[in-house]
Amino acid sequence: MIYNITNNSPLEVECDLLVLPVLCEALEGPGTGTLRRYAAASGVDLGALAQEEGFAGKPGQTLMLRGLGGAATRRVVLVGVGKAEDVALGALRQVGVTAARCGRQVRARVIGVCIAEPVRATGLHEAQAMAQLYEGFSRSIYRFERYLSTKEVRQDSFERLVLIAPDADTSPIEAALATSHLISEAVSTARNLVNEIPSVLTPFELGVRATSIATCNSLEHHVLDVAQLTERGFNLILAVGKGSDNPPCLIHLVYRPQGPVHHKVALVGKGVTFDTGGYSIKGGEHMLHMHSDMAGAAAVLAAAQAIGKLRPPGIEIHFIAPAVENAINGRAIKPQDIVKGYGGKTVEILNTDAEGRLILADALAYAQEQGVQTIVDLATLTGAIVVALGECTAGLFSNDDGLAQQLLGAAHTAGEDLWRMPLTQKLDARLETPMADMKNIGGRTGGAITAALFLKRWVELERWAHIDLAGPAWMETESTDFAQGGTGYGVSTLVYFIQALAHEYREGQPIARNLAK
Ligand code: BES
Ligand code: ZN
Ligand code: ZN
Repeated sequence: MIYNITNNSPLEVECDLLVLPVLCEALEGPGTGTLRRYAAASGVDLGALAQEEGFAGKPGQTLMLRGLGGAATRRVVLVGVGKAEDVALGALRQVGVTAARCGRQVRARVIGVCIAEPVRATGLHEAQAMAQLYEGFSRSIYRFERYLSTKEVRQDSFERLVLIAPDADTSPIEAALATSHLISEAVSTARNLVNEIPSVLTPFELGVRATSIATCNSLEHHVLDVAQLTERGFNLILAVGKGSDNPPCLIHLVYRPQGPVHHKVALVGKGVTFDTGGYSIKGGEHMLHMHSDMAGAAAVLAAAQAIGKLRPPGIEIHFIAPAVENAINGRAIKPQDIVKGYGGKTVEILNTDAEGRLILADALAYAQEQGVQTIVDLATLTGAIVVALGECTAGLFSNDDGLAQQLLGAAHTAGEDLWRMPLTQKLDARLETPMADMKNIGGRTGGAITAALFLKRWVELERWAHIDLAGPAWMETESTDFAQGGTGYGVSTLVYFIQALAHEYREGQPIARNLAK
């Protein structure tokens, strides 16, 4: 996406649509800030017009005006952001979403946005606010149109976004926007991977796309094929993968910073390119959208793309994604099979639909071998987390409070809903079986917790977190907070998380109490 930043007055910026976020307060009395300036310079009293049209600046309210004269824009849209005291960064992201939607409505080529007024009145950080706006905008102009015949492809007229910061020093804004731009591109990469159809995005194809992300962003890459997985004993990945004609693989990209390494992190993502459930087959509607069961892997690989470009100092990062298709043939695993995982423990597979935890068990054991001090895994792991938290929120499980706080902080910055869940140790007994070291299901209740406890059995590290994103990874319909289809959930949180880690080291602060271990 093309954008530029200017410190000209919004009246001077030539655009097809000028987007002005408006606070409720700006419409009370004689009007304030941008609206007053607009009136003084052009003789057009936007505040009065707004009031006549019943626009009060409430969140979500918009008012499109044209033929005003007095400014270099063809149209103005006022976007309500509510009362100053209630305006948070998320409201600016929402302005970005609205700007893109209004722009599409009027087929605008150049869209200008000026957020000076709400930023000044609310004391928000201008660069951060611009970054949020950019991320919202970019998310809303994304389309996955690969399978539309040419004549049906929506002709998008959008060409350029102009971010207007009158009289401001634009350099901090430029720095924040550069990061947002890379994050937004990475979010689109994740969404392209999640939206791709299952016959195209097989485990092999995911490996191909990961390799291309690595080569384009100077990352090391390894993709272990079936022969290598067999030789090294990744038996759980192989067990889930053997029911499909599309063979599994294990993807591993590495980012190595220039200079000294202070901390090593592994980001692990579940890459089930289609989940039929296997012999414990998914019934009814449950199999729909199961091509999105690789959203964890997509988030991790997309984060690799952004991190390869941002190149944060001091942090070495391993991006690991076990990729399989969970399907059925004569050789597919059956309920009651027992398999010994890469980490050396045996699992009685009682439900072949609980496959994510199986492939992650091998991947987590492999991640630990890389000598990392922190592991974060992302997986569309359970329907139970959606029952618990709804579809907008992902669940966070961690054995380390410091790591949990860092991830919650990063999610907040990213505007992604993340909620900490307990690793209730008492439920761990549900994974016991007389037949093997553990079984892969833990009963009807507390399903997201027992799934997390299953993963925990494969992690010795004391800084591990698991994010169950089965809810927000895919959205059936577009809403104010989410796009339709693959959402790219997690990418932004991961990038902000890594950036914060790198920053803490630069500041010379110890990042966690258990690092020395
Ligand atoms: N991929 C599913 C989880 C899922 C459900 C993701 C809904 C996205 C939306 C996972 O592999 C699965 O099938 N989990 C089972 C576990 C059960 C058999 C213990 C589930 O949640 O029903
Ligand atoms: Zn499943
Ligand atoms: Zn699954």
